[in-house]
Amino acid sequence: MISPQQQLPRSLSNRIALATIISLSLLGAGCSTTSTTSDRTETADAPAAPGVAQAPTLRSPDVVYVPTPQAVVDRMLAIAKVNSKDVLYDLGSGDGRIPITAAQKFGIRATGIDINPERIKEANTNAQTAGVTDRVRFLNQDLFQSKFSDATVVTLYLLPELNVKLRPQLFAQLKPGTRIVSHAFDMGDWKPDRTEQVGTSTIYFWTVPKNPPANLRAVRVAQTTPVSSQAGKVYAR
Ligand SMILES: C[S@@+](CC[C@H](N)C(=O)[O-])C[C@H]1O[C@@H](n2cnc3c(N)ncnc32)[C@H](O)[C@@H]1O
Repeated sequence: MISPQQQLPRSLSNRIALATIISLSLLGAGCSTTSTTSDRTETADAPAAPGVAQAPTLRSPDVVYVPTPQAVVDRMLAIAKVNSKDVLYDLGSGDGRIPITAAQKFGIRATGIDINPERIKEANTNAQTAGVTDRVRFLNQDLFQSKFSDATVVTLYLLPELNVKLRPQLFAQLKPGTRIVSHAFDMGDWKPDRTEQVGTSTIYFWTVPKNPPANLRAVRVAQTTPVSSQAGKVYAR
């Protein structure tokens, strides 16, 4: 029997095959978020075969990568009074140092979310080196599209306008009593319960209230600073 491909000229069937591969890749990139653990990469929809390549960046990061100094990480976790019952999320997790430290010190489950697949790869390597892959996972997602409602502690090192943009999402998802710690940046008119200076870094601490005031829950149109103009401006010390 003659197969459909044998009936077509070879160049045409090659083009059809190529077009199919491209459309399938585009479909995959656009329709699902990708989560990565140390030993496998999987989509939110269905597990992928081991060894499948990392998906491309979802979009450009809203803020450049700058790591929090380890002394500040330690203090952030202390200020949030992290304990063995907590579930921690770091939104914009970079090399994974905050979730990894939390898992190492307190034995808790921790998740890092980052839009940049390079950071996810790096974080997974670091989690493996630290021996915490059973408690820590890193998700290659846009934090503004992420679900973190099981968090009891959320850590941030973003930008002031991103914190304010994120505020309604924090109130919508997090239970009252959830602790939020931010390195360097405040939350606009949501005043912190506490601030602390560690060297040149300021740490801000909030607890999600039972009934957040309407003005704090309101969605604002954020003026996001383009990543290209952030270097040396926001993080200058
Ligand atoms: C300043 S770094 C902080 C890294 C880490 N949390 C720390 O304190 O060491 C910000 C991180 O947020 C990530 N990021 C930027 N925009 C994001 C977005 N929309 N969703 C998820 N991650 C994002 C960047 O890739 C970067 O790794």
